[in-house]
Amino acid sequence: MSHAPFLPIQPTGLRPDQAALICRIARQRGGLAIAPTKIAFLEQRLSRRLRVTGHAEFDHYLDDLLRPGAEGEVDALIEALTTHTTSFFRERRQFDWLCSEGLPALVALGAGRDWRFMGWSAACSSGAELWTLAMVLDRFFSTGRGGSRWQVAGSDLSRAILERAARAVYTEDEIAGLPEDYRKAYLMRSRRRHHTAPLFRIGPELRRHATFHHANLVKSPPPLAAPADVVFLRNVLIYFDDSGREAALRHVLSPLRQGGLLFTGHTESLAPVPPSLVQVAPSTYRKV
Ligand SMILES: C[S@@+](CC[C@H](N)C(=O)[O-])C[C@H]1O[C@@H](n2cnc3c(N)ncnc32)[C@H](O)[C@@H]1O
Repeated sequence: MSHAPFLPIQPTGLRPDQAALICRIARQRGGLAIAPTKIAFLEQRLSRRLRVTGHAEFDHYLDDLLRPGAEGEVDALIEALTTHTTSFFRERRQFDWLCSEGLPALVALGAGRDWRFMGWSAACSSGAELWTLAMVLDRFFSTGRGGSRWQVAGSDLSRAILERAARAVYTEDEIAGLPEDYRKAYLMRSRRRHHTAPLFRIGPELRRHATFHHANLVKSPPPLAAPADVVFLRNVLIYFDDSGREAALRHVLSPLRQGGLLFTGHTESLAPVPPSLVQVAPSTYRKV
């Protein structure tokens, strides 16, 4: 007797009213600004959620999503709609400016000497930005310029990506942007034989400086151990609507020290720039 092959259940198409509902939830709960007309994008991102939750139809999935107690799935839905693209030394000019201008000015104020310097990657994704910052800080402070005490914190909306950032394990492709001298100084190579492709891990001397926090920047800042001297808020504001952007900026600026620096992505605009900030370089601001 022959059996018909089992085929994966393909969700039926997303209707415009369902797309509008999903976008409303994403806006209200995550501050994400997604146009309801992006049906193909929504379908592609959400079909995995339907498979994981065992739904064949968006209708039934949305019914369950709206029931009390479905907060975990709402978080998973918002996570499925976010993008985690990142890389080491992304927009390198900002790190160069930080070394040549930003850090000497912050040390002159007392950072790293009178208090432990705090660097914060506010939407850290899988950690490339946070670990780049850690490497830059370690280099800077180990040359004896000013103090030597520093720490870094990473926060993100996605718990899964935050775990990856904390694990700090990367493939060859993921570390492509990392210069050779930084690789030598800060990476360990995996010795596990069953991996055909090598894996690299950030060394313990950097990892012991880092903490990680789950945070929705639109709702509140994470509980940092100390006010931040530097915050990287890059390539995340683009996903928010005006009120989400305004709220996220407020929550990022409140734990930033006076004199501290804010870095944003090159394609992002702060317009209007809040009165507490002055621009000191492209996509770089000082809190006054
Ligand atoms: C494109 S990545 C940017 C990573 C890094 N900042 C960079 O520029 O390379 C955007 C990150 O923002 C996070 N994100 C999106 N909405 C957020 C929110 N409301 N609060 C905190 N993080 C959020 C996403 O989970 C994602 O990891």
